[in-house]
Amino acid sequence: MFSRTLRAAVGHARRLPVLTGTRLQWRHRALQVRACADARAATLHLLDDCLELSYGDTPMRFNYVWLRDHCRSESSYNPATNQRSLDTAGIDLRVRPDSSRIEDGQLVLTWPGGHVSKFSLDWLATNTYEAKKQGVVQPRVLWNADIYERADVPTASWEVFMSCDAELRKFLQSYLLYGIAFVDGVPATVEATEAVSQRVSLIRQTTYGGMWSFTSDFSRGDTAYSQLALDRHTDTSYFHEPCGIQVFHCLKHEGTGGRTLLVDGFHAAETLRRRSPESFRLLTQVPIGHEYIENTDSHHNHITGMGPVLNVYPWNDELYLIRYNNYDRSVINTAPHDVVQRWYEAHRELTAELRRPENELWVKLNPGKVIFVDNWRVLHGRESFTGLRQICGCYLTRDDVLSRARGFSLHV
Ligand SMILES: [Fe+2]
Repeated sequence: MFSRTLRAAVGHARRLPVLTGTRLQWRHRALQVRACADARAATLHLLDDCLELSYGDTPMRFNYVWLRDHCRSESSYNPATNQRSLDTAGIDLRVRPDSSRIEDGQLVLTWPGGHVSKFSLDWLATNTYEAKKQGVVQPRVLWNADIYERADVPTASWEVFMSCDAELRKFLQSYLLYGIAFVDGVPATVEATEAVSQRVSLIRQTTYGGMWSFTSDFSRGDTAYSQLALDRHTDTSYFHEPCGIQVFHCLKHEGTGGRTLLVDGFHAAETLRRRSPESFRLLTQVPIGHEYIENTDSHHNHITGMGPVLNVYPWNDELYLIRYNNYDRSVINTAPHDVVQRWYEAHRELTAELRRPENELWVKLNPGKVIFVDNWRVLHGRESFTGLRQICGCYLTRDDVLSRARGFSLHV
């Protein structure tokens, strides 16, 4: 069940590369070498405009200037800092190697002037565009309520989580796959919530501060500070870089209602992509403004952000960010009227997917249960409530969380 779902989730990005009718007349130059490295045959062709390497299953093409720019010799690349030393602007854009060969599993190029570059074939195979295009940046399990509940994703336990790296790694793996993850048994205080958040990564400072804590007192100019229901949305869509992770902890609730709503935005978007690819494409193309205007006695803010509702990596079409907040969406003036009409239709189709009851995961956040939400993927909302309800939480920066995950050798 798990592996089937995972394959389905990433299937769109695993299409074979389509090399459409290039008109280049490749004149194969003198050199053609076959070598055995790592039990795989390698074939090298020097073409007019690039070097073609077949190694394993995939033919790869490297521009000559790219190869010189990516030289990993010590004079070109500092192994201590993992930074380029070479001045790219100093490379002749028409540079070509004087000689090339495959030797001991390496591509060896000698450039005019005598500089030698060596690339392991495995490194080239890992870093070529052809491999990047076929791979996924982040494997995910897309879910509706039924898929998520049947997956029986483990919840971390506070004391183990705070002291055991294996538990943190397991938590991060769940978080990366599903876009939500829970820690149970956390003391119902702002301080403990801050500690459990910092165990994951750095807390992002925003206009709300680092750690925030609020009740329905309307102390800030935002609907979140009321008892009203909130429809599904992503937060801080008015930042050019929306906050990556949101942390919630309900410290106290003396009343009824207030369940948290979670919807996997990528599941809805992928359904839209299958059913209505033109609508999906349009939502990736039209930049939409969002803004936060606040004027209270002690807070004055006017923040604006701009970006499409759906964001995909251009090399493999993989979704990486949904920006969906009907409360904060500002004036649409970034497309002509005929495009705007089609955008509303596409937005309506996406909204219909996001609002399907089977896609809604409802969770009651009780004191002690802390939830981490991928704010670039999973939408949240809440039902209305009565009584005193105190919530605290914070935002984490996505880059830092992903860096933490890579430190545990997780695939991101
Ligand atoms: Fe929110």
